Amino acid sequence: MKKILVVFGTRPEAIKMAPIIKELLLNKEYFETKICVTAQHREMLDQVLNFFEIIPDYDLNIMTHNQNLSTLTSDIILKMKGILEDSKPDYVFVHGDTTTTMATSLATYYYGSKLCHIEAGLRTYNKRAPFPEEINRVLTSHLADYHFAPTEGAKENLIKENINPDTVIVTGNTVIDALLTCVDKVRNHTFQSIEDLSNLLDEDKEIILLTMHRRENHGEGLELICEALNELTEKTNVQIVYPVHKNPNIYVPVHDFFGKNKNIKLIEPLPYEAFVWLMDKAKIIITDSGGIQEEAPSLGKPVLVLREITERPESVVAGTVIIVGSNKKKIIDETMELLHNKDKYHNMTLLHNPYGDGTAAKQIIKYLKNI
Ligand code: UD1
Ligand code: UDP
Repeated sequence: MKKILVVFGTRPEAIKMAPIIKELLLNKEYFETKICVTAQHREMLDQVLNFFEIIPDYDLNIMTHNQNLSTLTSDIILKMKGILEDSKPDYVFVHGDTTTTMATSLATYYYGSKLCHIEAGLRTYNKRAPFPEEINRVLTSHLADYHFAPTEGAKENLIKENINPDTVIVTGNTVIDALLTCVDKVRNHTFQSIEDLSNLLDEDKEIILLTMHRRENHGEGLELICEALNELTEKTNVQIVYPVHKNPNIYVPVHDFFGKNKNIKLIEPLPYEAFVWLMDKAKIIITDSGGIQEEAPSLGKPVLVLREITERPESVVAGTVIIVGSNKKKIIDETMELLHNKDKYHNMTLLHNPYGDGTAAKQIIKYLKNI
């Protein structure tokens, strides 16, 4: 029997860990599984825990208003020491690139359990973009014992950094597993959250779905993006729907910028099922999110990426996303092009998703059974 501790703290980690937790719990004869949430996010994490019916064994309840990276990092390292001593895991699972991931990886290395890193090997090779996620990933890779890479490209990145190739396994991204489960539930059940959301929407206007939260866009980038989107709603008859991230560095300025624009609907972060339903209804998605870039091609939705550089080059190569950064002209021109050039739009909706087929978690747990 292997003792497993799964640790995560934010909304996207929870979504991408949910399929792993499901597989671990389906294999109780092999694994004794404990779940620890740092709660680096609170409300946005709880929305995901509710949807996937995940009940944590440990909840560090760490989030504070407008938290800073230093306090967050040190709090997680200190608190994880106690959790590791209590649960005594053989293997600790972390995901991706957050402060929870990096700090838990370091605490695990000090304690001595084996570290399994999901979504390993993504790189921009620019340590300020995404900040601090690029360095969180690099540090986690060098602390981890097993690396579950979503793509061959991610595996190559790890090998270039002298990670032992025998410990790198390409599985696709578990976000696709989560998305397919969610799409299935949304098609077969009614959800109050979806009914409430549909009542807010204008039936006769195309939807552009917007999300934005990255630190690199705080300040000047955010102002340019908001100006571009305000201008866009003057040029064309669309509704922009924006579930606003709770980070006050985003929440406060976007309400100032967009508050008076009736064609930009600012709403609270959506539960996963309502967000997936909205992605499916949208014509175009404009976002700086990592996870949404991976999900959207499975729903046939073109994505404009509000970043200067991406650690997900596969989607640029596949043609499922277009990088627009915070360049006002590019944001407006590319959106107008997608709204009016039917062939270009249609071609983008047909493309293949490079991030997997929904079996990543099964592959990861099968591998874990045999090590
Ligand atoms: C974090 C991750 C980022 C990830 C993002 C997903 C780091 C360094 N960054 O950034 O990689 O893309 O989560 O959304 O780990 N807040 C709430 N309620 C919530 C969540 C956040 O009020 O449920 C507010 C709090 O004031 C909190 C602030 O947002 O202090 C920032 O949260 P934090 O996790 O530090 O940064 P994110 O920008 O969310
Ligand atoms: N998401 C959600 N509700 C929202 C916005 C996003 O459930 O209101 C989901 C989305 O489907 C994706 C994930 O949250 O799976 C992305 O999270 P985020 O953009 O916060 O972080 P990132 O992926 O950039 O790290």
